[in-house]
This record gives sequence, structure tokens and C-alpha cells, in this order.
Amino acid sequence: MSTSFTPTSTSTHHTKHHSRWSDKQSKVLGHLAEEFTLSTAQLEHLATAFIGQMQSGLAGDQKSSDLAMIPTFVSGRPDGHERGSYLALDLGGTNLRVCLITLKGNNDLESNSKAFKVSDHLQEAHISELMDFIAISIKEFITSEHISAKIVEHPSDSETLELGFTFSFPVTQTAIDAGMLLRWTKGFNCPGAVGNDIVQLLQEALNRNEVNVHVAALVNDTVGTLLAHSYKHPNTFIGAIFGTGTNGAYVEDTRSIKTMSTPTADEMIINIEWGNFDKDKRFLPVTIFDNKLDRESINPGVHVFEKMISGMYLGEITRNILLHLIDQRLLFDGTSSTKLNTHWSFETKYMSQIENDNSATLIPIAQILEQELGIYLNTQVDREIVKFVCQLVGKRAARLSAMATAAVIRKGLSVEGRLAGHGYPLKLSEGDHVFGAGVNKHGTMVRERTDSAVDHRDNVQPIHVGIDGSVFEHYPHFEEHMVEGLTELLGSRSKDIVALGIAR
Ligand code: BGC
Repeated sequence: MSTSFTPTSTSTHHTKHHSRWSDKQSKVLGHLAEEFTLSTAQLEHLATAFIGQMQSGLAGDQKSSDLAMIPTFVSGRPDGHERGSYLALDLGGTNLRVCLITLKGNNDLESNSKAFKVSDHLQEAHISELMDFIAISIKEFITSEHISAKIVEHPSDSETLELGFTFSFPVTQTAIDAGMLLRWTKGFNCPGAVGNDIVQLLQEALNRNEVNVHVAALVNDTVGTLLAHSYKHPNTFIGAIFGTGTNGAYVEDTRSIKTMSTPTADEMIINIEWGNFDKDKRFLPVTIFDNKLDRESINPGVHVFEKMISGMYLGEITRNILLHLIDQRLLFDGTSSTKLNTHWSFETKYMSQIENDNSATLIPIAQILEQELGIYLNTQVDREIVKFVCQLVGKRAARLSAMATAAVIRKGLSVEGRLAGHGYPLKLSEGDHVFGAGVNKHGTMVRERTDSAVDHRDNVQPIHVGIDGSVFEHYPHFEEHMVEGLTELLGSRSKDIVALGIAR
């Protein structure tokens, strides 16, 4: 028995169990904790590399950047006064959602939607099969909801319905209604799509299936999130997803986008595709468990950052660690189960349930282990260890998410021309005499001094970050750990300056 190991990263209520861990368990778990715990200095280092890759991506330097930094051709943001009904489509994971959205003009909206399950087969079928499925689902929605050109906004008197398509994969756009798929992610791998125009592929399927709909716009889900959040909070600067996958989009000064020859507006939303940050693992502290997952994934060598953060992968990292402990006889007395031995069998939602169990005996964890994973013999120490591992993996994900968010905010705060000459340090703490930072009523990022003369000049508001995704919404303590990370990277005032919110 040992009490020697005191983890540095986890909150005190875990340490009380550790007296029951054997020396070997304490040693191995202590080592794991060290590997999975990211210090402020490590996050700082990653944020600097992240900003560097954002800059090279904007400059079009493919060699030194893993961040695609895709101009989206979306240059305006709603301010909540827009009105009308629109047809929208969302494909990003296991669900396809068709929606009718009614903007009421007072920062409020209503939406009516129907979800269609995208089967495992369709996720790897030829793209024409997937697009036919989408076209038929749209037809079903339009028919069942009695939607006609009379109720949906459309530019002409034609009977054709206009559709906005949210497609949650990396697409290099050449216009608001044209874009080529760069690669599949999140378990999709449909042949015939990479290198082709997604809008055209969907339009052809709509025509083939005689659905009278015109695809008017293509946006990434991060862009959709940013725009949706702007409708309620016009000061929204970032749209981020922490769900099955992860990514962020933000508002950039078009003068910084060297990949666009003739910018037509002052600002444009950039789809960062941050899931692919540091794909060569030069900065990220990847462990053997991350490497194993990456190697065995459908898309090895890309989206390494996403694989450390998002819901599709967290369970699998945890499974890899549990097997490593079992193989050393440190867990479940060295016995695994057929289910636990199966790739992807440990779902991220089990981690949420496990972390939510605050009972003394951890019996709810025993139930998950038995019912979902076929592990019938488990002691209380086993359950403590399983929970401890989930906490390490979940907290690392939240801190990496905070790092990416903070890096984008820092990049925004240092935009040349907008904040030029202010010379404030990028870390915002009370000592900096910074009143606030945010987006002013003209949509420009500003930072202000405490001088009373300028305090209220531009009615400075917090920077809003619109977030969507099951990990952010449901993973225990994820938001709390993200906020902690943001405070470490942006300073003690960051809670007043950056407002995280769920985008609907
Ligand atoms: C995709 C992004 C998407 C993100 C969140 C990633 O796998 O590459 O385009 O925004 O998932 O859905």
C-alpha cells in the first residue's frame, strides 16, 4: 500500500482514494497523470505554435502550416434584425438534419427540423449514394412539412426553394456556393468526393431525384455556429465545435488573407480547420495511446489534434489506456472482455457517465462496466482507476480546447491596424490596466485603457464565442476546465472579456 503519489492535476476529491492503490498502481498512474497533465507553460508553447500556423496558413504557406485557414466568402454577420424563413441542411456526423428556420427580426428565431440517421454503410458508400440519400430526405421533409416557395425566402418568383447547406468537413471554397472537399474526417470515407465540388454533387442528386431545390450557400458548421450566435450576440468573434469533431472559425481582417487576391470586404470569416493543427506532432505532447489510435484510425496522420479532443476519439484513448493497465495486471485483476478488446467499443458518453458518478462506492460505474463492457469482476479500486483515467483524458481535451480558443483570441487582439499602436501586453490581468477588450459597435476588435475618457466611448462588450457540440454541452467539467485554461492563457480578466456560450 502506498500514499506516495499525489497527482498535481486532478482535484482533491480524487486523492482520497489513492491510499488504497498499490505501489505499482500509484507509480504507473502517476506517470500517466504526468503525461496527460498540460502545464500553463505547455499550453503557452502550443498557443504560440498555433498562432504561427494560423499566420502561415493565411499566407498560403502549405509547407509550414497544417491549418488550412479557408476563406469562407462569408463577410457579413447577422445582427438580429434579419427576418424570413429559410431552408437549411446540416450534415456532420451520424445525423442529417433538415430544418426550416424562421428569423423573427428581434434576435429571436424558431426552427423546425427533422433528423435522418446516416447509416454506417452510407458513411463509406460512394458519394452519389450519400447525396441521393440527402436529396430524398430533403424531399421527405418538404412534403411532410408542406413547405413551398411561398413561405421560404427566395430571390425570384420561381417555385424553386433555396437551401443553405452546412457541411461539417474541410472544404476549400471558391465562392459561397462552390467548394472542393479536401479530405474526409470523423469516420466518413465516401469515394468520389475528395477533390470534387460538394455543392455540385448535391445539386446533381437533387436534380436526379426531381427535388425542386437550389443549393444557394455552403458553410462549415463552425461558420454556421458563428453566424447563429451572432444573431443573438452581435459581438461574436469565434464559432467553435467541440462534438464528434472539433474546429473553429473566426472573423479576420481581409488584408491579412494573402491567399485571396481581390478582397471585396473588410472582414471575412475564416474556417481554421484546427483539427489538423500540428499533424506532424512537433508540438503536441502525444502519448503512445494517441499514436496507437491515430495509426488504427480511418485517416492516420491527419487531424491529430482533433483526435486528442473530440467525442469520436476520447473513449478510444481511454480504452487504450485501460488495456495498458489490464496488461500490467493493475486493473480488473488483469482480465479484459471481448467488448473492451474491440476497437471503438468504449464510447465517450460512458466517460461522461463515469465522471458524473460521485457516489462513495462508485456502483453506477460498476453498472456501466458490466452492462456496456462485459466486465463483471471489478473492485472499488478498479472503478476509482477507471474514473481517474477518464478525468485525465477529459481534462486534457478541455485544456487543449482552451488553448486553441485562446490562440484565436490572441491573434484577433493583435490584428495589425485594428489594435495597432496600443502596445498592451497580450496577457490581460488587473495589472495591465486594461478596461476591457471586445468587439465594438462597429464590429471592430478593440482593447481599451481604464482611462475614464475612453471607458464608454465605444461601448466595449465582451468577445462572444459561440459553441456547439456534445462534448462541450455534456462532458462533466469540460467548460469549467476550459475557462481555467483560458484564464491561464489570457489572464485573470478573461472571464469578463471572453463569454463562452452555447449557440443554438
Ligand atoms: C471537420 C471540420 C468540422 C469539425 C466539427 C472536423 O472533423 O474537419 O470541418 O468543422 O469536424 O464538426
